[in-house]
Amino acid sequence: MSAPRTIRPLLFVLAALAAMATSAPPAFAAPAANDQCYACHKDGETPQALAYAKDVHYQAGLTCADCHGGDASLDQKETGMATSRGYLGKFKKSDIPVVCGKCHGAGDSEFKRRFHLSAVSDSLMAGVHGEALRANEKGPQCVSCHGVHNILKVSDPASPVSPGHVVKTCATCHSNATYMRDFNPRLPVDQLEKYLTSVHGQKNAQGDPKPATCVSCHSNHMVMRVKDPRSPVYAMRIPATCAKCHADAKYMAGYHIPTDQYAQYRKSRHGIALLEHSDLNAPACNSCHSNHGAAPPGAMSVVSVCGNCHQSNAELFLKSPHAAPFEKQKLAACVVCHGNHGVQSPTDSLVSMVAPAPCAKCHKQDGTDRAAPIILHMRALLDSLSGGQARADSMMQRAEQKGMDVSDAKYDLKDVHQALVQSRVAIHSFKLGELADAIHPGIAVLAATETAAKEAVHDYYFRRQGLAVATLIVTIVIVLLWLKIREIERDQKAKKPM
Ligand code: HEC
Ligand code: HEC
Ligand code: HEC
Ligand code: HEC
Ligand code: HEC
Ligand code: HEC
Ligand code: HEC
Ligand code: HEC
Ligand code: HEC
Ligand code: HEC
Ligand code: HEC
Repeated sequence: MSAPRTIRPLLFVLAALAAMATSAPPAFAAPAANDQCYACHKDGETPQALAYAKDVHYQAGLTCADCHGGDASLDQKETGMATSRGYLGKFKKSDIPVVCGKCHGAGDSEFKRRFHLSAVSDSLMAGVHGEALRANEKGPQCVSCHGVHNILKVSDPASPVSPGHVVKTCATCHSNATYMRDFNPRLPVDQLEKYLTSVHGQKNAQGDPKPATCVSCHSNHMVMRVKDPRSPVYAMRIPATCAKCHADAKYMAGYHIPTDQYAQYRKSRHGIALLEHSDLNAPACNSCHSNHGAAPPGAMSVVSVCGNCHQSNAELFLKSPHAAPFEKQKLAACVVCHGNHGVQSPTDSLVSMVAPAPCAKCHKQDGTDRAAPIILHMRALLDSLSGGQARADSMMQRAEQKGMDVSDAKYDLKDVHQALVQSRVAIHSFKLGELADAIHPGIAVLAATETAAKEAVHDYYFRRQGLAVATLIVTIVIVLLWLKIREIERDQKAKKPM
């Protein structure tokens, strides 16, 4: 009679623990001397026994019974493989994490400490793979990635989870659309294909163990859905995930590429928006480098990378006089003026013929460069608007301090601000006409609001003068009245008989 399936693992654990407690502990340094399960199965040339000779567990002195239960000291199949001795036989796939978890699960024991075994099983079951396994027997469990009966140390280059093999191991499922359909038909199955085009993938294929594999970015056992905030590839955690390697100068030594991307990014407009203000619209490393095809965006492809979010700037740039020469010289478009990892808020001072303004790198004021006078004119236009805005702001403030109502004019100033915002986009046309078109409506509003502010101040002074005159007249009248009353009083006193 066999135990019901659900309690089998429990029975097995109890049986195995009892066995460990009663029998003398094995040496665990060499293959077990008296493993009758192995001996008989090897004689029968079963594939499991033949494979087991190379297994890390065999090397450590574990017997077939340590996983399958039963009594390894008995040379009869009827007694050794008896359920009364804790024999479990074959496993249901969904029970495998429990089988392995007896040693690679939570809890402390002298045995686990001796071999530095950690709670791998619990990590697996807490993630998306565990969730899939609970839903469907075909879901990932230990054997899907490590194999069985020929389990190797993970540091062994022949292990299916070593850097040289792990990407194919993950791809056995993740590149298999038929398989994935049973779980999540909407999940893309192109990760390996894209990965192989990346710098990571190409170096990995050449046998370099250092570039990122699937596991470096997704973790090994506690794999999370990518939209789970705990996932190492959740937007706000990606920069730190990439930085594990890319900010480690020692790890990256020998590749001759900078290791300052994270340091710069963290202080950039993008980094501050994402990491400090949790603005998920701001780019993380993968927004510009893609998830699996990580490569530096080449020259003009930068335009489409940045253009994913800054669409108008990109469209104007592509129609600008810069597009053709930048492409010809393989210049990284937007990056030439804004940088890549350290993008900051631009200011009008970028438009200048004085270094370090980017224009000054290429344009000269030698009378032959047609752009130079245009650049100066563009700057003058920008200054007239931003300068005008500053002046109008301070006039409004003065009027308000004097208690005048300037709310209408203040409302109109919003249009000036809008024109400024638009002009800083329009500048990417690098055409004077288009910039002027964006700026002129702002200048017109400025003129009107300036007049309004001036009138308000003028009104104030006018009213103040009026008040002074009125006060003077009233005072004079009061004084005259008082004099008159005294005169009348004196007259009456004089008329009274003594
Ligand atoms: C004397 C030989 C012998 C010994 C000892 C022996 N086995 Fe077997 N075992 C067999 C044979 C033969 C089969 C295949 C036929 C069968 O299922 O009865 C088998 C089958 C199995 C199976 C597959 C069961 C299935 O349902 O298909 C497992 C698992 C197994 N043995 C594990 C063990 C373990 C664990 C031990 C030690 C506790 C052990 N065996 C000891 C001979 C042996
Ligand atoms: C580290 C744990 C572990 C050890 C040690 C181990 N096995 Fe297994 N064995 C498993 C697991 C897990 C499965 C189920 C694999 C699956 O379903 O993909 C299995 C399956 C089997 C099967 C069934 C194969 C089938 O096709 O269904 C046999 C037979 C077997 N083992 C025999 C042995 C023998 C004999 C030994 C010792 C030489 C041994 N096992 C040692 C974990 C182990
Ligand atoms: C999705 C694939 C996958 C699954 C499923 C998986 N592992 Fe692993 N495992 C790996 C990878 C990859 C590594 C190596 C990680 C590295 O390079 O750091 C690893 C490492 C290990 C290690 C050694 C390092 C450590 O953390 O202790 C053990 C032990 C281990 N796995 C056991 C298991 C057990 C037990 C299960 C089932 C409960 C399991 N694994 C399920 C992929 C997997
Ligand atoms: C009876 C306890 C026990 C069970 C059950 C067990 N293991 Fe292990 N496992 C060990 C021990 C002990 C080691 C360490 C061997 C060493 O360090 O030499 C080990 C090592 C490993 C390693 C290599 C870890 C490394 O550091 O490279 C992997 C992978 C592994 N086990 C996977 C599994 C899987 C998968 C299962 C289930 C099919 C399983 N183990 C079941 C005890 C167990
Ligand atoms: C350099 C880091 C990195 C590497 C290497 C990597 N991934 Fe990803 N992976 C990501 C990022 C980032 C995302 C997307 C996160 C998001 O959409 O928010 C992702 C998304 C995924 C997804 C979700 C579906 C999708 O495609 O968007 C799966 C599944 C996945 N990766 C599997 C893999 C596999 C399998 C490998 C190895 C062949 C791998 N990844 C290698 C970073 C990486
Ligand atoms: C045995 C098949 C199998 C293997 C091997 C496997 N996976 Fe998965 N993986 C799945 C299934 C099934 C899901 C769940 C899909 C779902 O429900 O959305 C999944 C989900 C994921 C997700 C979450 C995708 C999301 O929804 O955001 C990531 C990331 C992932 N796997 C990465 C890996 C990595 C990395 C490896 C290799 C270390 C790997 N997988 C190996 C089957 C597998
Ligand atoms: C496990 C370490 C590791 C992780 C994690 C990692 N990388 Fe890499 N990456 C490397 C190594 C090593 C190279 C190879 C450098 C070379 O050959 O130039 C590389 C190369 C690159 C390159 C190409 C550089 C060049 O011009 O040669 C880019 C871009 C890149 N990684 C981006 C990323 C991004 C984005 C992430 C995070 C989503 C990431 N990497 C995560 C190790 C890593
Ligand atoms: C806003 C887009 C953007 C973001 C965000 C971004 N990068 Fe880059 N990255 C680029 C561009 C563009 C280049 C290529 C520069 C060039 O060609 O001049 C580059 C180049 C690289 C390189 C090649 C070496 C180098 O420095 O030139 C690596 C490695 C790299 N990035 C990693 C990262 C990492 C890690 C992050 C996240 C911390 C990140 N990048 C965030 C756009 C970005
Ligand atoms: C995923 C979308 C996204 C991508 C890709 C992206 N950006 Fe941004 N960018 C933003 C967001 C959102 C902000 C606003 C951040 C804030 O609130 O400060 C921003 C801000 C900026 C700013 C500052 C604007 C200001 O007024 O302060 C500049 C300049 C900039 N990005 C340039 C670039 C360049 C150059 C690239 C390509 C190398 C790029 N961006 C790629 C989303 C993106
Ligand atoms: C030749 C230099 C140059 C190039 C190339 C360039 N920009 Fe700009 N960018 C500027 C200047 C100048 C400003 C306006 C500065 C100011 O007046 O405040 C600006 C402003 C911006 C702003 C802030 C204004 C706004 O739109 O919110 C963003 C964002 C921006 N650029 C993105 C890009 C993107 C994306 C590209 C590539 C398609 C690009 N830039 C190419 C010079 C350049
Ligand atoms: C990487 C070099 C480079 C940088 C930086 C650069 N330019 Fe240019 N610019 C050029 C080239 C090349 C041309 C095309 C010259 C030609 O067609 O004769 C050009 C053309 C122009 C033109 C068109 C001139 C005409 O004939 O109508 C304007 C306007 C212009 N640039 C403005 C700017 C401004 C403003 C900046 C700084 C924000 C800037 N450029 C930065 C290289 C650059």
